[in-house]
Amino acid sequence: MNLLNLLITGGCGFIGTSLIHRLLHSHSNPTIRVLDNLVTGTPCDLSEITRFGTATSVDCHLKRGVTLIQDDIRDQDTTMYYAQGVDCVVHLAANTGVGPSVENPRLDMECNVLGTLNMLEAARLNGVKKFIFASSGAPAGEVEPPIHEELPPHPVSPYGASKLAGEGYCSAYFRTFGIETVCLRFGNVYGPRSKHKSSVVAKFIRQALNGEVCEIFGDGTQTRDFLYIDDLVRALVLAMDKDFGGETFQIATGLERTVGEVAEMIAQALGRRGIKMTIKHTQPRLGDVKRNFADTSKAKRMLGWEPEVELEDGIERTIEYFLSQK
Ligand SMILES: NC(=O)c1ccc[n+]([C@@H]2O[C@H](COP(=O)([O-])OP(=O)(O)OC[C@H]3O[C@@H](n4cnc5c(N)ncnc54)[C@H](O)[C@@H]3O)[C@@H](O)[C@H]2O)c1
Repeated sequence: MNLLNLLITGGCGFIGTSLIHRLLHSHSNPTIRVLDNLVTGTPCDLSEITRFGTATSVDCHLKRGVTLIQDDIRDQDTTMYYAQGVDCVVHLAANTGVGPSVENPRLDMECNVLGTLNMLEAARLNGVKKFIFASSGAPAGEVEPPIHEELPPHPVSPYGASKLAGEGYCSAYFRTFGIETVCLRFGNVYGPRSKHKSSVVAKFIRQALNGEVCEIFGDGTQTRDFLYIDDLVRALVLAMDKDFGGETFQIATGLERTVGEVAEMIAQALGRRGIKMTIKHTQPRLGDVKRNFADTSKAKRMLGWEPEVELEDGIERTIEYFLSQK
């Protein structure tokens, strides 16, 4: 990768720490700025993968290694300041997930739309060459799956709407200002470092290990496309490496799994370790789509990316991670 100076927003989170971990092993001494307001990720999460320094607003010089800036992407001055000298922005910070966006659509918009616009403006005015945007299957919304990049979007949740707006701004900032923006629409990502996540795999494992009843929204026949974290990180690195400005890619497995089926797989894997998992069904959640899986042929064709980790194997590795944290 030629892009040596990175700004990673949301770098203390699940995907951010996994990406930084990978970059620190595959590149010698990269310069990485992490901009995170620590609303979910913590300095402790970052320290599990690396030693890092901290920076305050009077300190805009890029330092070798990893530097944490505790601040917010909604603050225009902050984003402008810390994009100085950067080659590539990987924009992961967000109000993540459907539930929080239904609870507070305005907060979701401020983080995901205004925050993304701030990051793109900061990139434009600081001459940043490349911008990777963490999108999701949610912009596609209620459509007949498999979803793909050319389908007209019909977001169901405010989260889907805000990610769609982010994709729109990325397209515009490439076509009007020439910033190499790439949008990656992640599937339902799971794996090590997801201990705080409320997505299906992490939530079920956490609840079972805590002796709590695992909650499935609705009858469990809703489907998702589950992607192991290492596969996603490989896609992020490829997108950073290659020049595909203005493009969007579905990054998922192409496999449709019901939530009930995944819960059963987790229950069996835990059962083999002598851990019991109890399931209860509650009301379907507002904003959730019924079916979701993706056609990833564009990512294969253009990025040369394909998922490698099978769900059974990924669940085993995730359970081992959660057990190691206890
Ligand atoms: N995990 C998934 O399955 C998944 C699926 C699709 C898309 N995504 C997207 O990937 C990105 C990363 O997700 P994740 O799973 O690592 O989430 P995460 O919650 O683990 O990490 C997000 C990080 O962003 C930080 N953050 C939140 N709001 C911020 C703000 N206003 N300013 C600065 N920092 C802020 C949080 O403190 C956290 O460390 C998000 O944009 C998310 O929408 C994730």
